[in-house]
Order: sequence, then structure tokens, then C-alpha cells
Amino acid sequence: MKILEVNQLKTGYDPEVDVLRGLSFSIEEEECVAMVGANGAGKSTLMKTISGILKPKSGEIFYRGQRIDGMLPHEIVNLGIVQVPEEGGTFPNLTIEENLMISCRRKKAKMERQKNLELVYQSFPQLLAKKGQLAGSLSGGQRKMLSIGKAIMESPEMLLLDDISMGLAPKVVEDLYRMLKDLTLKMDIPVLIVEQIVEIALDFAQRGYVMTQGEIVLEGSSAALLDTEAVQKIYIGT
Ligand SMILES: Nc1ncnc2c1ncn2[C@@H]1O[C@H](COP(=O)(O)OP(=O)(O)OP(=O)(O)O)[C@@H](O)[C@H]1O
Ligand SMILES: [Mg+2]
Repeated sequence: MKILEVNQLKTGYDPEVDVLRGLSFSIEEEECVAMVGANGAGKSTLMKTISGILKPKSGEIFYRGQRIDGMLPHEIVNLGIVQVPEEGGTFPNLTIEENLMISCRRKKAKMERQKNLELVYQSFPQLLAKKGQLAGSLSGGQRKMLSIGKAIMESPEMLLLDDISMGLAPKVVEDLYRMLKDLTLKMDIPVLIVEQIVEIALDFAQRGYVMTQGEIVLEGSSAALLDTEAVQKIYIGT
């Protein structure tokens, strides 16, 4: 069954300019899919459109067969689609645990709060060690863990991860992805991951799409894409 289906999606900030120019792709049950592309390709615009933060100009988005474009962001969260945004999302003046506890907006998440909190602390021991400290005191990598943790507190049924490597040192990114892999395997839910670092994203996902200027230009299994000369030349620099 298709979990997410995006058909001919057009989105833009200016009435005259389309950032997403008729984008189509899909995600199957339990699949982890990467959407990769250079700066400004429209990756975050896509994530915001799926989450209902931006309204598409045209096209359709279906989640488990239900049309969701046109729905409000909180209605989309309620369906179980939870986004880890590219920036922000954590409150620096609240402690780590307070940040996590206030994230349960879904009814289901309120009932699963304790179980989810344990999963977050188990997946990110650095958050457990600092649970009483203010989020503002965290390092960049730890703040990203908290941002992911907040998404987990919503009992997600599908995760959208927007460029979680942004601004982090390579070693931190590597560690973060290792922890995330364990977590998503445990949760067994579909994931759409958007990344500028193509190699990392394709290592993480089973399948991927390459996006250039709001359009899909290549698609295939991660292994096949990594082998593509175009991907190697443009994005990995080999
Ligand atoms: N709020 C906005 N208002 C106007 N234009 C915007 C806005 N946000 C993004 N854009 C433009 O839309 C295009 C796509 O931006 P987007 O942020 O989706 O790219 P991205 O692929 O996520 O890039 P990055 O890898 O840098 O995060 C860019 O040309 C950008 O300048
Ligand atoms: Mg972006």
C-alpha cells in the first residue's frame, strides 16, 4: 500500500514563481526514502507542503489513501505525520524533559507519553543525562536529538526529517544517523528524509529521489543512485 503519494505538486512563495514544479513521488509501507538535492532545490518547501505549513498551488497529496493537501498542520500531525524541521522546534528556556513532555499534541501521544519518553532516552542517552538542564545549554548535535525526540513524543506514524545534518560536524552527523537508524528500525514506520549530504541520506534509506530545481531528475534504489555517475559527480565530488 502507498503510504504517501504526491502527484504533480506545485508550490511557490510568489504567485509568478513555482519552487516545486510538478513533483511526483511515493512511499510504500515501512519504507525509508531519501529526497536529495543541492541548496535551494526545494526540499524544505516540499516538507512544509506535506506538513500543511505551505498550501500547494496545484497537485495532490495522499496519506494512506486520504487526501491531505488543504488540511491544516495540526490535522496532519493528528493523522500521525510528524516533521522534524530544518531549524528550531525546541524551546531554549525549558528543560530537556519539559521540551519533550509538551510535545504530545496527539491524543494517542498523550496516552503513550511514558513509553515514548523511555524510547527517546534509550535512543539518545545524552538527553537522559541532561534531562533537567535547559535546552539552550545543549550542543548543536544534542539539540537535534531533542528535536527528533520531540517528534517521537507525538507517536509518529510517518516521520519527515528535514536536513538534520545542517550545521553539524561530520562526526556528530555520523553518530546522529547511527542513533536514528536504530530508532527508526525499532519504530518500524515509514520515513521521508531530506538531506544535502547525499551519501549519508542514501546510506540511511533504501530508495531515493534526486531533486533539482523543484523537479525529480533521478530515482532508484540507494545503491543504484550512489553508483550513478551523475550523482557521484554532482553531489559526492568523485
Ligand atoms: N519563505 C520564503 N519566501 C520566498 N522564497 C523562499 C522562501 N523559502 C524558500 N524560498 C525559496 O525557495 C527555493 C527553495 O528553497 P528550499 O528552502 O525549499 O530549498 P532546500 O532544498 O531546502 O535548500 P537547503 O538545502 O538550503 O535547505 C529557494 O530558491 C528559496 O530561496
Ligand atoms: Mg532546506
